Amino acid sequence: MRIILMGPPGAGKGTQAEQLAARYGIPHISTGDMLRQAVKDATPMGRQAKTYMDSGALVPDDVTIGAVAERLARADCGKGFLLDGFPRTIAQAEALAGILRDLGVALNGVVDIELGSEALIERLTGRRVCRRCAATYHIANRPPVRAGLCDKCGGELYQRGDDSIATARNRLDVYQKQTQPLIAYYSQAGLLRQIPGAADPESVFQAICAVFE
Ligand code: AP5
Ligand code: ZN
Repeated sequence: MRIILMGPPGAGKGTQAEQLAARYGIPHISTGDMLRQAVKDATPMGRQAKTYMDSGALVPDDVTIGAVAERLARADCGKGFLLDGFPRTIAQAEALAGILRDLGVALNGVVDIELGSEALIERLTGRRVCRRCAATYHIANRPPVRAGLCDKCGGELYQRGDDSIATARNRLDVYQKQTQPLIAYYSQAGLLRQIPGAADPESVFQAICAVFE
């Protein structure tokens, strides 16, 4: 199964991707997670990406395209993959088409999770992430059992720097300008399925699985 999971910041891509990857036995490839790890490790890619990410802008296309091309060529993608947060521009989508052509594979579908701006801001500003295992919580929708601590590993929960209200708003603007055109792009390719993202995570998950089953 080769799937792209699209949707504005905070729509629930990461939450759904984790479950979908487990269900279909495919790797979850999140460019956001790859970039955050690179920033943490202070690699050349991380140093290049940091200022863009801090402001909520997209990092340059060549950075993410190179990283995704390298990741998709690895053996574990032989049985498929779930892309989360890539592509985010038409140039990235065209590059991806070339990468897949070279690998001799095709996409099964593109799922776009939809949610309005007000709910997105509420999701982003309320999100908390485990420093140790990266599990995701929400102060209202999915609170941890013990405040500030991860249920899975006991690690400290923190708020992503780009989840401040000002940066979250900027990310939504960037999404509208640079990523939304992909909806028409994949719709014209006959690959797009739009899923409402306002329901609880389990209902959204069932709706996505129904697309492929
Ligand atoms: P990235 O990490 O990809 O961030 P994003 O797309 O903004 O998405 P998020 O991780 O914020 O949200 P999500 O949709 O995964 O939501 P989640 O499941 O966590 O990118 C970060 C930055 O990296 C970008 O700004 C850019 O700079 C750079 N970047 C990454 N990829 C790039 C690319 N291809 N090109 C260029 N630059 C790139 O859920 C959010 C919250 O809501 C959580 O608290 C969760 O618990 C809660 N929640 C989830 N689902 C539900 C539900 N159904 N009901 C109630 N609450 C829910
Ligand atoms: Zn944890």
